[in-house]
Amino acid sequence: MSNNQMTSSETEPTDDQSAPTPGTDTLTDSTDAGARTITDRTLLEARDLSVYYGDDRALDSVDIEVPEKQVTAVIGPSGCGKSTFLRCINRMNDLVDTARVDGELLFDGKNVYDDDVDPVALRRKIGMVFQSPNPFPKSIRDNVAYGLKVQDKDDNVDEKVHTALERAALLEEVEDQLDSSGLDLSGGQQQRLCIARAIAPDPDVILMDEPASALDPVATSKIEDLIEDLAEEYTVVIVTHNMQQAARISDKTAVFLTGGELVEFDDTSKIFENPEHDRVEDYITGKFG
Ligand SMILES: Nc1ncnc2c1ncn2[C@@H]1O[C@H](COP(=O)(O)OP(=O)(O)O)[C@@H](O)[C@H]1O
Ligand SMILES: [Mg+2]
Repeated sequence: MSNNQMTSSETEPTDDQSAPTPGTDTLTDSTDAGARTITDRTLLEARDLSVYYGDDRALDSVDIEVPEKQVTAVIGPSGCGKSTFLRCINRMNDLVDTARVDGELLFDGKNVYDDDVDPVALRRKIGMVFQSPNPFPKSIRDNVAYGLKVQDKDDNVDEKVHTALERAALLEEVEDQLDSSGLDLSGGQQQRLCIARAIAPDPDVILMDEPASALDPVATSKIEDLIEDLAEEYTVVIVTHNMQQAARISDKTAVFLTGGELVEFDDTSKIFENPEHDRVEDYITGKFG
């Protein structure tokens, strides 16, 4: 696959409404400490992807190319299929008896619905974080180690746990209490613990379904900063019902509307400043949804 190389620098997040401006290769900011290289190589691609629950269609012929190592936000009104789309990517919909998937979901060019794909192995490469922090009733260490491939005792588990906690911006806060229960942490810390658990197996993709919607503003802001950092290493796809959050942290935005239709997908700045579709503009400006 050819790499369409582009470099772009982005300013650190500030509390204003400025969206990142991907797709520009000239924007530089000398104060920027966290510059990252952005390529537009496609890592995930849906082709004519539809999902049905019984006879009800929840996703309608979705085509999308999600770029590697960027943050892609998925927005849209409740019930429009955001979670369903996310769950297609790592085959979590397999766990729903009535769900049926049509079309293709390519991960690095390979259809994840091919017969020879092992969904459990796939979910280590494409990790997931949910709306409510859901640590296991286990120690912090065991929560993170859980995601590693069956515990080879001599396989540097401790080192991997440390690395994952560090990448999840949690290590400093819990370094001295790795054996205490993950459930004793605050909500925001629990969510970062879940992110560490998803990161531990060294995935390529992290899927997040409204990961901050149960958190207070301070914890939310920490998660948002973390998500932007994670895109240096991982491809992040995040569902959010918070449009300001999508504008703040994402490079690309996909707008789903009622009926499971992907109406528009573009650079986040374009979606929020000058969308192509009136329906998207109406949604963004709060006229419905
Ligand atoms: N497990 C399920 N069984 C049956 N219908 C479902 C299931 N999950 C979601 N749906 C339906 O699919 C549609 C899309 O849901 P969902 O993907 O959860 O939307 P969103 O995340 O955008 O709110 C909705 O009509 C919802 O009721
Ligand atoms: Mg949802």
